[in-house]
Amino acid sequence: MQNTLSEIHQIPAVCSFSQALIDPNLLPNLFLSDHVKQVFDRYPKLLGTYSSVQGDEELRELLSADLQRKDKLQVSPDELMITTGGQQAIDLLSSVFLRPMDYVLVERPTYSSALDCFRQRGARLLPVEIRREGYDLDLVEVFMKRHKPRLFYTNPTFHNPTGFTVPAAQRKRLVELAERYGCLIVEDDAVHDVYFDAPPPPPLYSYDTEGWVVYLRSFSKYLAPGLRICAVAARTAVMAPLLTAKSLADNGTPLVNQKLFQHCFESERLQQHLEKLRTALQMRRDVMEQALCAGPASWQWHRPQGGLNLWVRLPDGLNANQLLTESVRRGLTFVPGTICDPLGEMTNRIRLSYSFMNEAQTREGVHLLVQVAEQLAQH
Ligand SMILES: Cc1ncc(COP(=O)(O)O)c(C=O)c1O
Repeated sequence: MQNTLSEIHQIPAVCSFSQALIDPNLLPNLFLSDHVKQVFDRYPKLLGTYSSVQGDEELRELLSADLQRKDKLQVSPDELMITTGGQQAIDLLSSVFLRPMDYVLVERPTYSSALDCFRQRGARLLPVEIRREGYDLDLVEVFMKRHKPRLFYTNPTFHNPTGFTVPAAQRKRLVELAERYGCLIVEDDAVHDVYFDAPPPPPLYSYDTEGWVVYLRSFSKYLAPGLRICAVAARTAVMAPLLTAKSLADNGTPLVNQKLFQHCFESERLQQHLEKLRTALQMRRDVMEQALCAGPASWQWHRPQGGLNLWVRLPDGLNANQLLTESVRRGLTFVPGTICDPLGEMTNRIRLSYSFMNEAQTREGVHLLVQVAEQLAQH
């Protein structure tokens, strides 16, 4: 049995529903490669220069202005740090804030590589269910009061793996709870711009007045995963130790990546790309849903309004790990619920990403998956 996401990603597959990554065919590859030369012309000493630990100043200025304009986030360039992907930000936060036996509030289910970071530091996990309507905030309050968790790791917008978005009213109350009980909220906003019909509510960070929210906005999921660029927003008390950790980790994210990203981010083409990408992903989501609807009615899910995944409930008696073993034999992968569950249960859930395969492959893949499930049910 595969116990981690990276083990699943290493399985060779003809049809991968396990990669919550955008199909490279949907990314502006030619545009990026055309502009590499221009970036080097503009900054001829680029390869001969280190980045500052905090990240390139021009890029932080650009992102600060963009976050203020589009998301009404009051964040100055000094309150931003560039990390090598969202994953590094989670790891740095764990190294700064967690000691063995500390409590960490996590959603159930959640992004499993974050769980791996917290476990690695010897933290104790306190799972809070995430549902369509958000969290049980009374339970969150009980946990905060009783266990004094150091962190609450949240992914409140087009949540991975469920696709749920925590409503605005809950966001405000959650930040108030964090302030009252001194629990740092880590808001992981990895697919903020991958919405379909309407943009998501304002980030938790926009309600923060006392510095109890750290905001992670990775750009891996819609622009250039290869550049590994994430912006971390935090107030001084959190930013200062994070900068120390970042300098120990790598002394700054490679400047070439930051400048290539900046150039692409400030171009008009980015907006056009994003709009096309939203349409393409929405179509892929629809195709996956239609293909699933043609299968047994007992497969259930909530339609996500953004993000990359369907979180599917299997019929009673069908075990996700067994289904995975049989599917891998036929060249198909997905993420079984156990990996996303901090308690290691959820054996009747699977995460199917609709972002990596094209429409025809998705149709075929779902058909195969349903066939494998039916064969298992007959045994
Ligand atoms: C919720 C969430 N956070 C963070 C990451 C890591 O992103 P990055 O590629 O920027 O390290 C992912 C990637 O799958 C994710 O789904």
